[in-house]
Amino acid sequence: MTLVSKNIVVGVSGGIAAYKACHLVRLFTEQGHRVHVVPTPTALKFVGAATFEALSGNPVSTSVFDAVDEVRHVNLGQQADLVVIAPATADLLARLVIGRADDLLTATCLVATCPIVLAPAMHTEMWHHAATRANVETLRSRGIAVLEPAHGRLTGKDTGPGRLPEPEQIAAMAQVLLAGQKLSRTLEGLRVVISAGGTQEDLDPVRYLGNRSSGRQGFALAEVAVQRGAEVTIVAGATDNLPTPPGARIIRVGSAVQMQEAIEEASADADIVVMAAAVADMRPKNPASVKLKKGVDSDALSSLELVENPDILAGLVADRRPGQTIVGFAAETGDTERSALEHAKVKLQRKGCDVLMCNEVGNGKVFGQATNMGWILTRNGEVFEVGAGSKFEVAAQIWDAIEAVHG
Ligand code: CTP
Repeated sequence: MTLVSKNIVVGVSGGIAAYKACHLVRLFTEQGHRVHVVPTPTALKFVGAATFEALSGNPVSTSVFDAVDEVRHVNLGQQADLVVIAPATADLLARLVIGRADDLLTATCLVATCPIVLAPAMHTEMWHHAATRANVETLRSRGIAVLEPAHGRLTGKDTGPGRLPEPEQIAAMAQVLLAGQKLSRTLEGLRVVISAGGTQEDLDPVRYLGNRSSGRQGFALAEVAVQRGAEVTIVAGATDNLPTPPGARIIRVGSAVQMQEAIEEASADADIVVMAAAVADMRPKNPASVKLKKGVDSDALSSLELVENPDILAGLVADRRPGQTIVGFAAETGDTERSALEHAKVKLQRKGCDVLMCNEVGNGKVFGQATNMGWILTRNGEVFEVGAGSKFEVAAQIWDAIEAVHG
C-alpha cells in the first residue's frame, strides 16, 4: 500500500474520551500524515495542549483570536485533506448543525470543503435524544460521516451505546475517506448479514480443527456497511482480538454447523448476505465428549475420521429470496493448471452467488494481514481488480460492487 502524506485536522471536543484522541494523533503521524490538533476550550480540561503539541509536532490553539496573523481559523480548514473530530460530543454536533464559528474547531469545520468524520461519544440517553438524532441526520445529509458510537461501559456505572469507537477504527474510516472512497448512506434501510472469522471443529472439549482467518475483512465489511446506513448482523466464528464493529449486532458461533444455523436464521429477512467467513470444509466425525488421552486414545488421536461440513453459501443460494443478493469469498492460490483468478471464475459459477471477492493467498498473503488484494467478480461477468489496500478500503470497493448488482 502506498501511503501519501495528507493534512489532517484532528478536532477534540470536551468529553472524557478526549484522552483517546492522543492515540489517534499518534496513529496518523505514524502513517506519515501532517496533523494539526484543534481542541475546543473544554477539551483542554481533559487533556492539556502540551500533550497534543508534542504528539502532533504542531502548535495547538482553541480560539479564533490565537495566531491571528496566520488567519488560522481559515487556513486550517482550507488546507485540510480531512477533518476528524474525536470525540464529538452532543454539544459539538449541535453547534455544527447550526453553523457556529465561535471557536477554532467550529470555524475550521465551516471553512473545510474536505471530508469530515465525526466520532461521537456521549451518554446513551444523549445519543438517543431526539435532538441528537435529528442533528446526526442533518449532518449526514450534508455528507458528513458520523460514525456509530461503540457499545460498552461509559464514564459512570452506565453501559450502552455512546463509547468512542477505538482509535484504530476511526483511523481506518479516515483512511477510506482519504483514499477518495465514499461513506455515504447508500445502504440505508437494508438488512445485511455478514459472516466473519474461522469456524472451529471440535475434536474433544480441549482441541479443535481451525484455520488462520482473523475476521478482519468481515469486520471491515460490517463497519463500512454500518457507516453506509445498513442494519448489520455479524455471525462470527473465531476472530483475532478485534473490537466489535460499533453499531452492528454480533452473534458468536463455534462450528460450521452452528454458523449455518445462525446465518440461516439471521438471513431469513436479509437483503444482502456476505459469506466472508473461512468455513472448515470438514469436521471430526466423532468428537469426543471428554478429553482424549495420549496413552489411552492413541487410535482416535492418530487416525482422524472426517465428514464434510454443509456448504453454507450453496445453501443460501439455493434458498435465496427474490431480490436477495448473496456474496461469496474465495481464497485461492492458483496452481499449474489455473491462476487464482481462473479458479475464482469457476467458483462464482459453481457457487451461483451474485458477487465473489477472490483473495490471492499463500506466501503470507492476506490471512491475518491488515491489507488485502485480489479481484471482485460479479454475476454479470465483470471483473474488478482490487489493488493492495487496507481491508477497509477493500471493503468499500466490495460494497460498491454489491450495490451496483443489488436490486
Ligand atoms: N463456504 C461455505 N461453506 C463451506 C465452505 C465455504 O459457505 N463449507 C463459503 C465461504 O464462506 C466462501 C466461499 O464458500 O464465501 C468459498 O470458500 P472456499 O473455502 O474458497 O471454497 P470451497 O467451497 O471450500 O472450495 P474449494 O475448497 O474447492 O476451494
